[in-house]
Amino acid sequence: MIKVNDNFGRLAPNYLFSEVARKIRIFQQENPEAHVIKMSIGDVTRPLCPAAVEALHRAADDQGLAETFRGYGPEQGYPFLAEKICQFDYAARGIDISPDEVFISDGAKSDLGNIGDIFSADCTAAITDPVYPVYVDTNVMTGRKIVFLPCTEANGMVPGLPTEPVDLIYLCYPNNPTGTTLTRAQLKVWVDYARKVGAVILFDSAYECFITEEDIPHSIYEIEEAKECAIEFRSFSKTAGFTGMRCGYTVIPHALKGVDSMGNEVSLNGLWRRRQTTKFNGASYPIQRAAEAIYTPSGQTQIRESVDYYLHNAAILRQGIGAAGLNFRGGINAPYVWVKTPEGLSSWEFFDLLLAQTHVACTPGVGFGLCGEGYVRLTAFNTLAATEMAMDRISKLTL
Ligand code: MLT
Repeated sequence: MIKVNDNFGRLAPNYLFSEVARKIRIFQQENPEAHVIKMSIGDVTRPLCPAAVEALHRAADDQGLAETFRGYGPEQGYPFLAEKICQFDYAARGIDISPDEVFISDGAKSDLGNIGDIFSADCTAAITDPVYPVYVDTNVMTGRKIVFLPCTEANGMVPGLPTEPVDLIYLCYPNNPTGTTLTRAQLKVWVDYARKVGAVILFDSAYECFITEEDIPHSIYEIEEAKECAIEFRSFSKTAGFTGMRCGYTVIPHALKGVDSMGNEVSLNGLWRRRQTTKFNGASYPIQRAAEAIYTPSGQTQIRESVDYYLHNAAILRQGIGAAGLNFRGGINAPYVWVKTPEGLSSWEFFDLLLAQTHVACTPGVGFGLCGEGYVRLTAFNTLAATEMAMDRISKLTL
């Protein structure tokens, strides 16, 4: 029989969100009358904005006419979208990124999972704990050594620098799952460290649009010299409701270099281009047109309304969770609220209790890593009515 990749045997049997969905499904089958409010996976509930929908319709028409039909597109994305990204997401913040440093894809999850292809399997990955499970699982699949960086009450959820050599450093800010942030000064510590030891920071800024406070960097490239040590991942999922559309992008500056086993300097932008042109045929044309439309004046206004709607939900979560006497973090610069379980309950015990008593589904913190034990995560992505109803139910929780 064929030999399989043994590393898969080191993974949990199910991906975290599949496991949570399975548990909710079972609960719903056993309690068909229960109206379950899902505050587990961070999936959006607001529809696509009108500007994106109109662009989708126009792109569908383009595909129906010989003169405007498009077949295979550029694997790294159409220039019409890359140019908007450079202008709106970077130049507007004083950051100079050129379109050929931008790689458009079917989402940040794919890019974060695939980026490991361009690094040696011998690299050691430093990963904060708790964390978005894709970073850990994909490095386990490759068989890489992982060094965990605990984020705990003791360090205020700010990871300390590794105490052993590492090559790759995964940082996600605003953070999924804890909703916490790093200030410019705190992020600069990581950029300085990565440059000093020759590591690469893989910076996931999928939640950048939820930043409300002044001193929080929207891009790692706001930190001087980060172009020499960081790759940035962005997503349209939460910014523009694209979880079902699938579109995101990765920025790999030309200044970012690696070294091969012969000691030759290699461009990481060039390696990723080679990887993407080989394994990926580009995000679809209509989806990229829809993403382009969010950069129009009406698109910008419309997506801002949705982000503000979710931030309002987050404020309701903070208010409701606090009123229920539970300790929490997040929800100010992020759509997630990280809740300490009461009475020493484990994450899964509190998940079960919340589901059974209030019919509210959360994500158990331990699913994001061992340091997440004793916490659960709630998302602000449900509707306002469901968020209010969930908080009303949680206010009656008995322990
Ligand atoms: C989450 O709930 O953590 C995210 O929605 C999952 C994802 O973006 O893949």
